[in-house]
Amino acid sequence: MQLVEDLGYHFRDVHTWWIGPVCPVLRLVHPKFVAPLLQAPGTIAPKDTTFYGFLKPWLGDGLLLSAGDKWKCHRRMLTPAFHFNILKPYVQIFNKSAGIMHAKWQRLASEGSARLEMFEHISLMTLDNLQKCVFSFDNNCQENPSEYIAAILELSALLSKRHQQIFLYMDFLYYLTPDGRRFRRACDLVHAFTDAVIQERRRTLTSQGVDEFLKAKAKAKTLDFIDVLLMSKDENGKELSDEDIRAEADTFMFGGHDTTACGLSWVLYNLARHPEYQECCRQEVRELLRDREPKEIEWEDLAQLPFLTMCLKESLRLHPPVPAISRCCRQDVALPDGRVIPKGNICTISIFGLHHNPSVWPDPEVYDPFRFNPENSQKRSPLAFIPFSAGSRNCIGQTFAMTEMKVVLALTLLRFRVLPDDTEPRRKPELVLRTESGLWLRVEPLSTGPQ
Ligand code: HEM
Repeated sequence: MQLVEDLGYHFRDVHTWWIGPVCPVLRLVHPKFVAPLLQAPGTIAPKDTTFYGFLKPWLGDGLLLSAGDKWKCHRRMLTPAFHFNILKPYVQIFNKSAGIMHAKWQRLASEGSARLEMFEHISLMTLDNLQKCVFSFDNNCQENPSEYIAAILELSALLSKRHQQIFLYMDFLYYLTPDGRRFRRACDLVHAFTDAVIQERRRTLTSQGVDEFLKAKAKAKTLDFIDVLLMSKDENGKELSDEDIRAEADTFMFGGHDTTACGLSWVLYNLARHPEYQECCRQEVRELLRDREPKEIEWEDLAQLPFLTMCLKESLRLHPPVPAISRCCRQDVALPDGRVIPKGNICTISIFGLHHNPSVWPDPEVYDPFRFNPENSQKRSPLAFIPFSAGSRNCIGQTFAMTEMKVVLALTLLRFRVLPDDTEPRRKPELVLRTESGLWLRVEPLSTGPQ
């Protein structure tokens, strides 16, 4: 990551990395230069499939991996699943899962404070949230070990490991290794879980009929993603197949857990290193919840936390959970300075490089939430800050993720003081931006009463 930062100082817009003597990869780190790729239609600059191919056995043809007409049709069908009417009731789920994690932290900090590895604790909580929002499944996975959750964590770890072993990029070799066999076993387990939920829900839907089904759901006030996927139809009235629904549900579980856990872990790290900003956020939350019992965040509160939102965005800039995405040019693509990316070239849009580019962000290594006040935000290109990518293939889950992160961050700061650990973490890009040996912080319980 140090090298990527340094590159930004020397080559500010675009540069080439050679993989061996024959494979040039173009790295773009400026809003003006990423625009032609992010705004190009999928037929001109589709996703590069080298790495994403490893995910195929797990995620099938879900939104992240599909292309062409299938992607277009599914993206249209799935967009309503992230409408705020669907997301609104999830806020209660986020409050509850955060509460379970915090109760655990309280126990661990019974002697005054606890030293915790953030990714480990927060990933379990984000997986708990996703299980509840995608499947309406609650198995107390933050307290009791779950085979399904263990399989997802194993799949993610195996993917990161394979990414770094170039000799195992060939499928036939990989699946002969113990890791490859483990990957297959974990995939089977995850698929069996998703299939069982879909079958059960289809049976209920068939026996009750759509109207009764919706009435029952309206009473419970929550439609989970499986419900929405089961009922969605394309413009010709065609429903999604069970295989399609499984692919989309598995994609949400993959796309939504590590990324959000990473965003939350790093914002706690940044606020631990900047106690003055941490205290400002805490005062904002205390003020908002002053006369309220129980102290829970509601959907309407999310717009009332401007400083906390600025701190979160600045953390997503400095530590973007997805450090880079890639595209493959199927046609020549013209850059704004007249140069042309030749057809066939693989391009990396370095989100990390762009967020650390000194010609876009002065003093890029400094954590300064005021970069995101309304006045400063207005002065920048909308493509200067792209943690969720941009253009037609941007993150469909970004409102879900921002909502979850704001709820959990607000409650965490209300209940705990977060302090840095003695050792500085070394950043490490895996599937998401992690660290070499965990992200350790200390937490101290606070009284949540009036102060
Ligand atoms: C902080 C949290 C998150 C970050 C930083 C993030 C980031 C991203 C990025 C950069 C992409 C573009 C990938 C590419 O072009 O190859 C993406 C796509 C996607 N994300 Fe997220 N994501 C987050 C949370 C979520 C959540 C919570 C969900 C679902 C519940 C989700 C589902 C997806 C899906 C399905 C796509 C593919 C969209 C498409 O190609 O149409 N993400 N995300």
